Amino acid sequence: MTVQGKTTAPAAKVGANALDYMPGFGNDFETESLPGALPQGQNSPQKCNYGLYAEQLSGSPFTAPRGTNERSWLYRIRPSVRHTGRFSPVERPHWKTAPCVEEHSLALGQLRWDPIPDAPGATFLDGIRTVTTAGDVMTQVGMAAHAYAFDTSMEDDYFFNADGELLVVPERGTLTIFTEMGIMEVEPQEIALIPRGMMVKVGCDGPARGYICENYGAKFTLPDRGPIGANCLANPRDFKTPVAAYEDKETPCRLHVKWCGRHYVTEIGHSPLDVVAWHGNYAPFKYDLRTFSPVGAILFDHPDPSIFTVLTAPTEEAGTANVDFVIFPTRWMVAEHTFRPPWYHRNIMSEFMGLITGQYDAKEEGFVPGGMSLHNMMLPHGPDFTGFEKASNSDLKPVKLDATMAFMFETRYPQQLTRYAAELETLQDDYTDCWDGLERKFDGTPGIK
Ligand SMILES: [Fe+2]
Repeated sequence: MTVQGKTTAPAAKVGANALDYMPGFGNDFETESLPGALPQGQNSPQKCNYGLYAEQLSGSPFTAPRGTNERSWLYRIRPSVRHTGRFSPVERPHWKTAPCVEEHSLALGQLRWDPIPDAPGATFLDGIRTVTTAGDVMTQVGMAAHAYAFDTSMEDDYFFNADGELLVVPERGTLTIFTEMGIMEVEPQEIALIPRGMMVKVGCDGPARGYICENYGAKFTLPDRGPIGANCLANPRDFKTPVAAYEDKETPCRLHVKWCGRHYVTEIGHSPLDVVAWHGNYAPFKYDLRTFSPVGAILFDHPDPSIFTVLTAPTEEAGTANVDFVIFPTRWMVAEHTFRPPWYHRNIMSEFMGLITGQYDAKEEGFVPGGMSLHNMMLPHGPDFTGFEKASNSDLKPVKLDATMAFMFETRYPQQLTRYAAELETLQDDYTDCWDGLERKFDGTPGIK
């Protein structure tokens, strides 16, 4: 890893094995990038090895039940109080936070977009474009759906988001996400989870594009499997948490913060990514969506798309998610005498969809990788005319939906469109025409029409 600018340290250092990962979801991990940096047998020695400072990062209230209690102990070059000076407010007009009801002239409807435009010269932080917001960050409920496009790595700029965790879904370009607790490389068809409050900078290997779910509510966790049992769907061992890595850099840097929807920056004289060792269960992770083991119909009909839930952020109302992250992966379709694509549908939940690669089975055309669709609360949607005709008349032999990966952020809260999204040049003004061919077949006489 290279570091731009003058350093007073001998060299910018990154911990050994900096791209290694530890498997498991929600485990209590321990990792050190220098031997003996991690205290053994206690959290807070009178003096830490290497002159490090001990610091706890709490991802849940101290008193949360054991099953949802999350905290980590970080052993760092400086305590985090030295990573913030005086804050100055800054404008970051494209990253919006709920509640956010903006004036625009776009009427209610089912919506679809082609990919957002490229953003030459932008960093990840500059390249975030909010498409929808839902709920209220002040009460820690709801979410935002963002798209991002950028092509420039962050070097001396860092940020943390106090408003929620960030679920990053790359569609194009590999990201290097350097967090306080280690480095993750994340390519399309992988996802990364940056916990609330975690300092981070993001690099890229060229033009990058994708999506982010900002979750203001309870943290994403694995859904219960119910009658499915103990295996399949997203298996815990496939989640990867990075080993400790740190950046020893004594140059002017900026730490950007979003806090209750407002943006701030503070100037510091060093990298805040200075955690040499840590232990605990509040940590970032990545996950390869291709390791998701789907279950589905093997005789007729098909279950609800909730069988494809990778992660769920629950609310206090059972089965009613603040937001679910659901995928539509490569899979076999084998059901007999069945209309195989998703059925026509209206929903109290609000659905934001994106496409990472391939083709989504409910739409024959118009929904392209990097594109987005929004089917908000109670608005009808389903297969387009071409898809309906094809699925209604095809020979129902086993078919593999290959090389495809679509996803959905589905929330119990209505999604408010930002003005940016309403006025986006890639908004398709003919999306709802895709259902125009679905004429009545009913004529009062029995029989297959
Ligand atoms: Fe739906």
